[in-house]
Amino acid sequence: MKKNTFYITTPIYYPSGNPHIGHCYTTVACDTIARYKRFQGYDVMFSTGTDEHGMKIEGTAKKAGKTPKDFVDGIAEKFKKLWEYMDVSYDRFIRTTDPEHVEAVQIIFKELYDKGYIYKGEYSGKYCVPDEAFWTETQLKDGKCPDCGREVIDFKEEAYFLKMEPFAGKIEKLLTETDFLNPHTRVKEMYNNFIKPGLEDLCVSRTSFSWGIPVSFDSKHVIYVWIDALSNYITLLGYKNNKYSDFERYWPCDLHMTGNEIVRFHSIIWPAILLGLGLPMPKKLYSHGWIIFDGQKMSKSRGNVIDPFVIGDRYGVDSIRYFLLRDMPYGADMNFSNEAVINRINSDLANDFGNLVSRTVAMVDKYFGGTLPPEREGNPLDGELVGMASGLSAKIDGLIDEPHLSAALAEIFKVISRANKYIDETTPWILAKDESKKIRLASVLYNLLEVIRITSLLLCPFMPSSMPPVWRQIGASAEELSYRNVGVWGILRPDVTVLKGEILFPRFDLEKELEYLDGLTKM
Ligand code: ME8
Ligand code: MG
Repeated sequence: MKKNTFYITTPIYYPSGNPHIGHCYTTVACDTIARYKRFQGYDVMFSTGTDEHGMKIEGTAKKAGKTPKDFVDGIAEKFKKLWEYMDVSYDRFIRTTDPEHVEAVQIIFKELYDKGYIYKGEYSGKYCVPDEAFWTETQLKDGKCPDCGREVIDFKEEAYFLKMEPFAGKIEKLLTETDFLNPHTRVKEMYNNFIKPGLEDLCVSRTSFSWGIPVSFDSKHVIYVWIDALSNYITLLGYKNNKYSDFERYWPCDLHMTGNEIVRFHSIIWPAILLGLGLPMPKKLYSHGWIIFDGQKMSKSRGNVIDPFVIGDRYGVDSIRYFLLRDMPYGADMNFSNEAVINRINSDLANDFGNLVSRTVAMVDKYFGGTLPPEREGNPLDGELVGMASGLSAKIDGLIDEPHLSAALAEIFKVISRANKYIDETTPWILAKDESKKIRLASVLYNLLEVIRITSLLLCPFMPSSMPPVWRQIGASAEELSYRNVGVWGILRPDVTVLKGEILFPRFDLEKELEYLDGLTKM
């Protein structure tokens, strides 16, 4: 039987500087969703990559004394190294300098031109170099880039343009009548800022720099970044090239994820290009907020970025993944601080989850020599916990689809906290003193093991390398860990044998860590 497919993408990042924790957020969020979908049995395509052309890269390479290609080769490797380090399970990594992408983009551009959607004109306006964004006079804020507040420069040259008018009606419908753009609050913003005033044609070529894909029929022009960059989502599947043949299988995309500064390109320009090519619309776009540091968006061009290797080495990659995914609110910004990282790890991972596992396993070990007797005795005290744990996976399925990852983690930790409270309510150490309560004691511990099985399974896509050690400790088999069984209560063998193991998430001393991190985390 053909499996259901699920195609998810990160933006392709500019290799103009080393990757930082901001890039980690989007990529780890997509990785978590990709892993969850594979767990559910989907045939997943998860893509990421680097967006290597443009004026800014050309300039940065020059400053570094390198050719653009040599320069981006080095940084693309660093992105790959970081994704390996962060346990990112991407299926395909596209670089816009890949020959099959270059060739396909030329064909796409020519097709849009032949259909009359691209025409030659003159570009004059304002340009923000670090953001690679063109603005009209009226879009500026106090004469500066409306996105980042930096200086813009004047620009005038012959250029090709993509017409927006033929697509305006369909784009408006896509945004206002479908579930495409998330969070829905962004719809109003796109509508008021761009659709209502009338969509402006987009400049899609340049003659003032050369580091780009040449227009095949007018070689003094290079294709200006967005047609090049956005097309990655289809060329990496093999659209208009022979390297891959997955287009039919995975398009339309199930989820594009981006930071909210590029939502306009993904919700208006990208649909226009696809409409021009006669291709179906992607199903969903989710744009998240920014990681803010010292009151400003963390970004390469501002130099206020956190080095993921430093905090990953100190606290563990999974703890950093957890922190990012738990602390980024839905659709809003997140303030990064070293203190928030340590507190989150201590309270959720060390105290709540780590303690639940170690206490439960230690009690099975102490009271039963590691193997539970198979008899059971229920109690009304069990009902709430069992209900919460059995219903959990259905909730998480929905939250992953939104995607609301922070809420998904909050739901999982509600059940973990409930289990810790259940230990206080059932007082196993008192039951253990009374021989006639042995079966009740075994039942309490079994219930705790089941909660650990269910919650650890659902946590695994978020923290992939930390859960197998949990499963060894609670003695769970592969079959007991399948998606089929995640919403079913009573799956672990009744006479399960546990295995005491290492501490899963050590606690950190806040004062000591802040001292250690001071000045170290910034790149
Ligand atoms: O825009 N907080 O590349 P880019 C959260 N090449 N996310 C952040 C972040 C922060 N402080 N900083 C970066 C480009 N990101 C284009 C995209 S796609 C066809 C072309 C993440 O290197 C976030 O996902 O500027 C943001 O949208 C992306 O990196 C921008 O990366
Ligand atoms: Mg950017």
